[in-house]
Amino acid sequence: MSAPAPARIGLVGLGTMGANLALNIAEKGFPIAVFNRTVAKTRAFHAGAGGLGDRIIPCETLESLVSAIARPRAIILMVTAGAGVDEQVAALRPLLSDDDILIDAGNANFRDTNRHVAAARQQGWPFLGIGVSGGEEGARHGPSIMAGGPFAAWQRVQPIFEAIAAKHEGEPCAAWLGDAGAGHFVKTVHNGIEYADMQMIAEIYGLMRDGLGRTPAEMAEVFDRWNRGVLNSYLIEISARVAGTTDPATGRPLIDMIVDAAGQKGTGRWTVIEAQHLAAPVTAIEAAVAARNMSAARALRAEGAALFGAAGGDVALDVGALEQALIAGKIICYAQGFELLTAAGIEQGWNLPLPAIARLWRQGCIIRSTMLNDMAAALAAHPGRNLMHCAPFSDHLKAGEGALRAVVAAGALAGLPLPALSAALAYFDTMRQRRGTANMIQGQRDYFGAHGFARIDAPGSHHGPWSQKG
Ligand code: 6PG
Repeated sequence: MSAPAPARIGLVGLGTMGANLALNIAEKGFPIAVFNRTVAKTRAFHAGAGGLGDRIIPCETLESLVSAIARPRAIILMVTAGAGVDEQVAALRPLLSDDDILIDAGNANFRDTNRHVAAARQQGWPFLGIGVSGGEEGARHGPSIMAGGPFAAWQRVQPIFEAIAAKHEGEPCAAWLGDAGAGHFVKTVHNGIEYADMQMIAEIYGLMRDGLGRTPAEMAEVFDRWNRGVLNSYLIEISARVAGTTDPATGRPLIDMIVDAAGQKGTGRWTVIEAQHLAAPVTAIEAAVAARNMSAARALRAEGAALFGAAGGDVALDVGALEQALIAGKIICYAQGFELLTAAGIEQGWNLPLPAIARLWRQGCIIRSTMLNDMAAALAAHPGRNLMHCAPFSDHLKAGEGALRAVVAAGALAGLPLPALSAALAYFDTMRQRRGTANMIQGQRDYFGAHGFARIDAPGSHHGPWSQKG
């Protein structure tokens, strides 16, 4: 009789997120077997695990990893999305039994997870796709966890994921959200909202820097003050720190030393692509992704500055208006995000629980904020309604739309680009315009393509008398 397998769960991929997730799992009392393709990394990880080392079983082959885990097994994959996951599934599956679970907890595209869950189901074994948000800190001390796939499989690993998750007033920020790629889709939309949230903060930073002439230290104080109010959130908190940090190398504000070109691993872009598939307008997120693309075009922007003169100019705004504008922009962006989740849930048959999603975003994830508590309550109280139309957000918008309008107008007049805030305002104005302007588009389409249009005074599809073309 061989000794009982010591590990409760396994993990493959000891990169930043994987290593910290493994430490978190071990710390919560679950012995974990770990494997990394580079053996030296596995050894170094175990050597550096300190007091947690006795709960971590370093494995140098996949075979030893599998045999180190108590059955029925569960193995977390923290490897590169796409081909990396495919590779690990192909390598591990032959070593496992049908009741062993593979869990992709990376930043996977939900369509890949749909494919993996379907293939696994057909072959008779369980595959889970789990979105993990919170970066390195979150993975180590408490991420927000968005699970998708067979519910029975989730139930088997739920105790572990709830134990390692961030807590909001004792409630784990972890939930099963639907079958197949539901968890990874919600994580993707989380990242799209994250992009827009970060972009709007950056736009307000630009107004304070180039329009109000504030120093980074002064801007840090402003963000710090806002973080004690309605805008209390991780992103406002860290923006205060980014603005307030001195560069050790030069003694100058670090933010002034950072190149103004944003990176992106692509999850925000995935959000926009899926929104287009679903005809769900996420204009603030679209603007944020485009803004990252434009930020990368530094040479073109320098050429534009030389040709047209640099943007910038005083703006007659007080900081309070900036705060109100940011609150309004944030609400509109989140409203778009939840509308997208609803549309995807219908198309994919998931019926995503919006209140539960808002609740699990309250702690651990990058967009964690106090406002999400109110969002969860509003979404629960008004199922199916656009967040903008739910108190207290409708009240915030009534109070703040003027400030958002003034800020967008001032930015436009000063030549200070506000793509995400402008997109949020345009969405707000469009979604309260009873008689829009698409009748002109319908006329144009029928004129050149005979596509037909509806009339306000008669049913059916009609065509204009374009044959008398002038
Ligand atoms: C999170 C973050 C994380 C994100 C990376 C890089 O929820 O922990 O969203 O998953 O993907 O921080 O993001 P970008 O390169 O796309 O900005």
